[in-house]
Amino acid sequence: MLTAGIVPVVVLEDHALAADLGRALLAGGIPVAEVTFRTDAAARSIEEMSQVDGMLVGAGTVVSPEQVDAAVDAGARFIVSPGLLPSVVRRAQERGVAIVPGAVTPSEIMTALSLGLDTVKFFPANVYGGPSALGALGAPFRQVKFIPTGGVSLDNLPDYLGLPNVAAVGGTWMVKPEFLANRDFDQVTELSRAAVAAAAAARK
Ligand code: 3PG
Repeated sequence: MLTAGIVPVVVLEDHALAADLGRALLAGGIPVAEVTFRTDAAARSIEEMSQVDGMLVGAGTVVSPEQVDAAVDAGARFIVSPGLLPSVVRRAQERGVAIVPGAVTPSEIMTALSLGLDTVKFFPANVYGGPSALGALGAPFRQVKFIPTGGVSLDNLPDYLGLPNVAAVGGTWMVKPEFLANRDFDQVTELSRAAVAAAAAARK
């Protein structure tokens, strides 16, 4: 999940686009996607994108234990949540999938640690202080890795990925709604390629 350094956050209204989208991301060098439970098409989209060889598909915006079950039943290999609910974390652990909950305050980060986690989502990163907040949190929480999302773009991605406690960044910028509406998968591949190149340069 963390190898490419980028986790596309995907909102699919139509599951019929899922496989093509997976192939487009993969062609751009991103073998992972977080398919969000923001639409009714999420579970079916996870199922279909998981059929694409080489794609690691997870579920995002998972806010209840029931959604953890729906996601895992559909084939999700990891779960991402915008916040931290112990019941969601525990259900993912029971189902044997990786879970990345949102945690932005020291107390939330400590709760995540107490649940046996060492990687959390930092969302919305642009609102909660961006790279300077992550730098400051690195002092007391040396063992914690963050996945910032929210306002991350090709322009500011190096500011995040250059930090030692950032495991990857996430975002929607390479899968914009208009690309999906127009079936413009070449754009997805092109923006993915640019993101992968920027991530590799930032991590050197
Ligand atoms: C997420 O759930 O991580 C966010 O919706 C991503 O935010 P972005 O649209 O600013 O990339």
